[in-house]
Amino acid sequence: MTPKKQGLFASFEGGEGAGKSTVIRALADELRATGLKVVVTREPGGCPIADQIRTLLKDPASPEMVGRTEMLLFAAARAQHVGEVIRPGLQRGAIVLCDRYADSTFAYQGFGRGVDLDLLARLHTLATDDLQPDVTFWLDGDAETLLTRAHGRNAETQDVCRFDSEKLAFHQRVREGYRALDASEERFVRIDAERSPEQVLAQVREAFLAHLRSCGLAA
Ligand code: TYD
Repeated sequence: MTPKKQGLFASFEGGEGAGKSTVIRALADELRATGLKVVVTREPGGCPIADQIRTLLKDPASPEMVGRTEMLLFAAARAQHVGEVIRPGLQRGAIVLCDRYADSTFAYQGFGRGVDLDLLARLHTLATDDLQPDVTFWLDGDAETLLTRAHGRNAETQDVCRFDSEKLAFHQRVREGYRALDASEERFVRIDAERSPEQVLAQVREAFLAHLRSCGLAA
């Protein structure tokens, strides 16, 4: 079972605490066990230059960062990540599993911060030549429920991020952004993230295998 020529690009989206990274790790293990080539990566980051930009973007000591700076830094990190990791991975025929991608910019900077959506679309073209995922799993749930989960997890890992400390209304706007994408993008698959981690993984696995079958990549 090997992807034909161009690999497969799958992204995972959702608010804080949706459980994306756990699902991605488990799915990657299962796919590798069947002999598929898998690249697991994340945004912002995924390679050394983009990881440096990530540090800047997440720094809780920079509350004065304005929406446009944030948008440009995410785009710069993405341009490097696409050029260094995602496109080469797809060219090798791998399945690329990416924790967040451009839909995060649409939801967080567009809906969350109010940056003009047309501007974001133009920037996406500039940064990535319009590379879009083949399929996007949106791990969705009530913003407050997921945020409470994220805060518990961050207290354990001591990970502090500018975005986690945003007010509930911000995260609710982010969810509206994802809702708008779900309504307009055929590649979007909504997953109920309020269920248990096992149930979330089962939903993603089923939808992922259905997608592989639909592209002739699995029996
Ligand atoms: P991270 O710790 O990776 O969050 P998570 O585990 O929820 O994915 O932090 C990344 C933060 O950056 C997250 O709050 C979402 C935000 N973000 C944007 O605002 N725009 C973007 O384009 C991306 C990729 C992330």
